[in-house]
Amino acid sequence: MSKQKRRILVTSALPYANGAIHLGHMLEYIQTDIWARFQRAQGHECYFAWADDAHGTPIMLRAEAEGISPEELIAKMNAEHQQDFKDFGLSYDHYSDTNGEANRQCVETVYNRLNEDGYIERRTISQFYDEDKGMFLPDRFIKGTCPKCKTEDQYGDSCESCGSTYSPTDLIGPRSAVSGTEPVMRDSEHYFVRLSEFEDRLHTWMTSGVLQSAVVNKMQEWFEDGLRDWDISRDEPYFGFKIPGTGDKYFYVWVDAPIGYMSSFKELCEQTGLDFDDWWKPDTETEMYNFVGKDIVYFHTLFWPAMLMGSGFRSPTAVYAHGFLTVDGAKMSKSRGTFIQARTYLEHLNPDYLRYYFCARLGAGTADIDLNLEDFVSRVNSDMVGKVVNIASRCAGFIQRGFGAQLAAELPDPQLYQSFIDQREAIADDFEQRNYQSAIRRIMSLADDGNRYIDDHKPWQLNKQEGQQANVQAICTQGINLFRVLITFLSPVVPFTANAAAEFLGLAVDQWSDLDQPMLDVSVNTFQPLMTRVDPVKIEAMIEASKQDLETTTAAAPQLDLADEINIDEFLKVDLRVAKIINAELVPEADKLLRLTLDIGGATRNVFAGIKSAYDPADLIGRHTVMVANLKPRKMRFGMSEGMVLAAGDDDSGLFILSPDEGAKAGSRVT
Ligand code: 2FM
Ligand code: ZN
Repeated sequence: MSKQKRRILVTSALPYANGAIHLGHMLEYIQTDIWARFQRAQGHECYFAWADDAHGTPIMLRAEAEGISPEELIAKMNAEHQQDFKDFGLSYDHYSDTNGEANRQCVETVYNRLNEDGYIERRTISQFYDEDKGMFLPDRFIKGTCPKCKTEDQYGDSCESCGSTYSPTDLIGPRSAVSGTEPVMRDSEHYFVRLSEFEDRLHTWMTSGVLQSAVVNKMQEWFEDGLRDWDISRDEPYFGFKIPGTGDKYFYVWVDAPIGYMSSFKELCEQTGLDFDDWWKPDTETEMYNFVGKDIVYFHTLFWPAMLMGSGFRSPTAVYAHGFLTVDGAKMSKSRGTFIQARTYLEHLNPDYLRYYFCARLGAGTADIDLNLEDFVSRVNSDMVGKVVNIASRCAGFIQRGFGAQLAAELPDPQLYQSFIDQREAIADDFEQRNYQSAIRRIMSLADDGNRYIDDHKPWQLNKQEGQQANVQAICTQGINLFRVLITFLSPVVPFTANAAAEFLGLAVDQWSDLDQPMLDVSVNTFQPLMTRVDPVKIEAMIEASKQDLETTTAAAPQLDLADEINIDEFLKVDLRVAKIINAELVPEADKLLRLTLDIGGATRNVFAGIKSAYDPADLIGRHTVMVANLKPRKMRFGMSEGMVLAAGDDDSGLFILSPDEGAKAGSRVT
């Protein structure tokens, strides 16, 4: 392997900002993180920069449903996501969201350059439109009966029952999933990237060894069908960036999502002084790797490189696709409790268990990975606890008790140590090629060698014999050195355990080149158990909790936080009247209050209302509203308040006073 220091940027696909992270996401992030940590362990400069994918219709609708702004939703999800990532030990350098200024600038730069060079075309297309909601419907928001197999309630782009793909207009009895109404066809002008212009360049790029063979084969099929122009615009209402030069067109989320890799890195450059242009110029010597799921390869191997090629930026050095995660051999299921959120996992189990298990299962291809829970328990317990950590725990006690924690000055079996070091290159090559399972096999085979050495030399027996003390120290020194090699090889995989091991050894275990020198004639620190066995009871508890996660999410949607129930007689005691606001003025001493003078049909009332943040007093004068007219007057600092006007909302979401339809007379009773 070349010893030249490489400069590498890695990314994981950006999670949508409208949902919690689950173990399916974590498979990819752990794969990426192991690779990034591995590169740093070889002494390379490696950054991991990514973001939340913050735009698009689902995020807009989710924010609406929660009664918050999309920006609030994004901020909330970003904090939650990052907490999950940190607790799983992801060593990313920067995490952004795609709604930020840096991303807007990058997106505009890419688009403007594509536009200037004639890669953008406009034409009118006809699409389903929800008249009730006033919006064009993305394919996923149209449901109907599959035109092929006639299964009801299928999405507008594909059938979950027979797997066929089609256009939403093919659906039988299409319905808007947003309002439930029947959508109509409506015309609108859209912007397209002329993808066919990039055919030759994409072909050269994809056949230059940057993609896995399965991905290249898939791409060949797309090429054979001919590359169709890519629709990059969406109409209002849409949550996204406006297309420059248009008043009401937005970039489709898949334009600004991958550009989020670039802008997140740009923000990192601004924070650290790295030279952005040097990393993103077309002939750069730096490397960029995008780790993605196989379902989004299309976006990453056609649209993303085409956008980069057409706007004078570098292309990805490689796009690495992985398969899906199954749990116990089946698609993750909410009702079975196998749709496990990252947070639920963390509440029950050590993150290094999962990092190790995924690593032991991951290969370089796009095959699906199964989290078999029984296998998970036995693999982690037998490999990590029973083999690796065991070597250290078998030796640490003797060294501590007998030799003041001091290691011997020489290795009794330097050849054995060397045989471990001799595997370094092959293991590194496996990690580099993402053959993680092969790397783990090699490491565990070395761990077997290490345990065999201890079994053969039996320090526990020698320790009881006269004159064998030096031997005991030497054997345990050998064991601890072998352990150090193993945990160094594993440090990209199990960072929490590696940190604990570094504490025990009294030296860092993250640079593989440090292993050239064994640890001799130095003292180690007090040994603490580095990893405990997986308790199957905790797995059960996690599955149960995941079932409950489902209950709380389904229950949360329709549930309202209502005040205590009242009966009709209690309600009728409240005398609601239409009131005309005949005067409104600021209360200089009060932050939130307006003083309203209300006419309720001959009588006037003075009311202090907490609506200053939402209304200019002058705008209120002459309006009708509804008030509680028989509320016991309350003495306030500024005078008597003789009732209450009705308003919806709060300071955060906005305040809206209620108004009767036109024609309602001041003083009429509201029933
Ligand atoms: O499929 C997804 O979850 C997308 N949010 C991935 C975006 S990856 C990149 F392009 F940003
Ligand atoms: Zn079907």
